[in-house]
Amino acid sequence: MDATNSKQPTTRHSAPRNNLEDMVARRLSGEPLQYILGSQPFGPLNLAVRRPVLIPRPETEDWTVRLAESLSPSPARPLKVLDLCTGTGCIPLLLCHLWRPGSAHATGVDISTDAIKLAAENATLCGIPVPASPATQAQTENTFIPVLGDLMHPTFIQNARLQPPYDLITSNPPYIPRAEYNKLPASVKDFEDVRALLGETPRRNVPDAELPDTDRAKGLVFYHRIASLASRHGLLQRSGGTLVLEVGDGQADGVTRIIENNFGALVDKIDIWMDPWGKRRVVVART
Ligand SMILES: C[S@@+](CC[C@H](N)C(=O)[O-])C[C@H]1O[C@@H](n2cnc3c(N)ncnc32)[C@H](O)[C@@H]1O
Repeated sequence: MDATNSKQPTTRHSAPRNNLEDMVARRLSGEPLQYILGSQPFGPLNLAVRRPVLIPRPETEDWTVRLAESLSPSPARPLKVLDLCTGTGCIPLLLCHLWRPGSAHATGVDISTDAIKLAAENATLCGIPVPASPATQAQTENTFIPVLGDLMHPTFIQNARLQPPYDLITSNPPYIPRAEYNKLPASVKDFEDVRALLGETPRRNVPDAELPDTDRAKGLVFYHRIASLASRHGLLQRSGGTLVLEVGDGQADGVTRIIENNFGALVDKIDIWMDPWGKRRVVVART
């Protein structure tokens, strides 16, 4: 074969190349730097990131580290962890990295196949084993299982083959109200999955939950469903369980009310954690 012809011709439509000129062009088009570089630090981890999976944010990193420090699981009393809306897998992977080996077995669920693929890749990058099922997980290591699933589906728990109850449920769900979503900069809207951002679903209602129109407009749809799954559907331990929900600016009181309405007397204590910029960012409920 002629050596000169063995080279593939370059076309304008080929996959993005990583030379400096292309990278600058992509940045000038508004693409976030993390997608161009393909990585984002998250605590001591360096996670792979790829369009359209949400780039992990510093406020999420901050509360995940705080959560890891506030619980002290041990191999004698390992925690069963469920992360709903897992994206890159950042939250459970950081917990698994920070806790002692054998003290946590995490599952992360997401509706996006891109996210689940990336979460599995990130587990490998971070050295966290991915067992085929909870039955085959090594007891001496922290493990992570990424699962494709739609938490709005009426039979979500069975479809995703979850094995409740969990000791710890974490979630950073989509929470941006539509009115705010419409005003987001193109560098976010054009690159990150709408399903990762918009606190709404195509379904008019969420299964088993009363959803006032006002809460829909405030981007609180996912909190209704998560609280219902955790309490009425028994995903969270009824005693000694912890539910940790990241919330948007101004949503902490609404989410606290949703938890109180769903859990009733089962909830022992609810705390609000601030983010480093002074915003009420996380609702932590203990049963
Ligand atoms: C705000 S992102 C959070 C991602 C990651 N946990 C983080 O903190 O960077 C929300 C995630 O929820 C997922 N999601 C949206 N609707 C969902 C659904 N119905 N069921 C499961 N996951 C869903 C999106 O694909 C997205 O990855």
